[in-house]
Amino acid sequence: MEFSRARVTTAVSKLPVTVDGAASLRTLLSEAGRAPGVLWTMLRSMVDAWPDEVYTRTLVETRLLGQRTAFVVDPALIRTLLVDEANSLEREAFVTRALAPALGCGLLTADGGSWRAQRRTAAPMFRPERVRDFVPAMAAAAQATRSRWLARPAGAGAFDLSTEMMRTALDIILATMTSGEGGLDEMRFGAAMEDYLGQTNWKMAYVMFGAPAWLPHPGARRGALAARELRAAAAALIAARRARGGGGSDLLGLLLNARDPVTEAPMAEALLVDNLLTFVAAGHETVALALTWLFRLLADHPAVERRILDEIARVGTDFAGDPGRLDALVYTRQVVLEGMRLYPPAPLIVRRTTRDIRLGDTEIPAGRSVHVPIYALHRHRLLWDRPDAFDPDRFAPSVHAARDRYAYLPFGAGPRVCIGMGLALQECLVILATLLPAFRLSPTRPGMPEARFRVTLRPHGGMPMVPTRRVG
Ligand code: HEM
Repeated sequence: MEFSRARVTTAVSKLPVTVDGAASLRTLLSEAGRAPGVLWTMLRSMVDAWPDEVYTRTLVETRLLGQRTAFVVDPALIRTLLVDEANSLEREAFVTRALAPALGCGLLTADGGSWRAQRRTAAPMFRPERVRDFVPAMAAAAQATRSRWLARPAGAGAFDLSTEMMRTALDIILATMTSGEGGLDEMRFGAAMEDYLGQTNWKMAYVMFGAPAWLPHPGARRGALAARELRAAAAALIAARRARGGGGSDLLGLLLNARDPVTEAPMAEALLVDNLLTFVAAGHETVALALTWLFRLLADHPAVERRILDEIARVGTDFAGDPGRLDALVYTRQVVLEGMRLYPPAPLIVRRTTRDIRLGDTEIPAGRSVHVPIYALHRHRLLWDRPDAFDPDRFAPSVHAARDRYAYLPFGAGPRVCIGMGLALQECLVILATLLPAFRLSPTRPGMPEARFRVTLRPHGGMPMVPTRRVG
């Protein structure tokens, strides 16, 4: 496909100044006063603050909340950025400052040598053969959700599917992390995670405005309490495991026993807490949202749903007994991939350049904020035929293999590609194939809910759906 190299500077920003790290509360308030629309749009959903050109151009340079920002939406340029220039990039301050109070300096938030050492230490934990060992725990959690739904009284009406999927995915990540040991109060842990992540948009907006970290915002106190609670719960889990001898084949056991293949050092104590929380935070909401959007899409596409059900009936659902069955769910996997094209749970990758780089014909100076807007890439007018249509045949193996690898990035790319990708895809298949044959899910209102970016891509107002048992 011919992909033009247009470069656009848009007028999307209503803020004429760049705010640096020393900007004060007064600056923040005056900027917010001048551009309340941009601030509120950003707090509501960052996707809405993107310039329209990200859906039609390859590189868009603009100002976002006063920061000069380059949006990269061309597969070749994304490859240059995330692969060839990976060493010229660092995490954006607005991401790390939003997440670090809870997640510390774990794999998601670290940079440089610390990140490299953590990545090579953790990588063996996520190898395909290891991930396969988690299928029985996944199947058990998916069956627990099915039993919970079966136990609902007839005529119980709608539930919020996103809450249901959060619970299921949290069950799974905790079961794969801790094998259910350690006396963790799951509901409380999930609520604390929600309280924490729910206020991160404020933190991001504040950093972009250059506001000081101490400045209060809605949810800040709850978020700080939640961060403390999460960190205490993770430390207690680790201590409980150590008290029992420290081993185990779950993710926590693997993490405690992991050694850096270069230095043979175990992970530092503080990083164990950071990474335990990082895996839970990065691994449960993303999976839950992928499934939430997917079930809603299926409700509008009965022919696709029928094909999945036929495939599942052919393959069987005893995944715990035979995890290899998952490989036979070829069409179901296509559907999962197409769902994540339209609704990527992590809709934005952000970096800051640490030195000057060149993307095609464009010089990007050191210190520039560079965004890869995955949501826009996946609906880009130059890359996808009928970009907004749900069509799982786009991911038929031969069609998908012929596509540019960097046109479809639900899990990112380059050295910082999602470490849990295999785990996540496997989990989506197990949950979908366990629940779909048992229930039809019908929306309570027509149309897809508005997608709002809160670190992840959430349905505004939740996803109310009515589960109906399938007969026969
Ligand atoms: C559908 C589910 C998931 C999606 C869509 C997703 C998406 C992503 C994306 C896009 C990135 C790259 C971020 C960047 O480059 O800035 C990422 C990184 C990461 N993901 Fe996932 N993820 C999912 C599930 C998981 C799971 C299940 C885990 C772990 C249990 C996990 C752990 C991580 C970690 C630790 C990183 C940081 C890796 C690094 O920087 O080295 N993710 N994920």
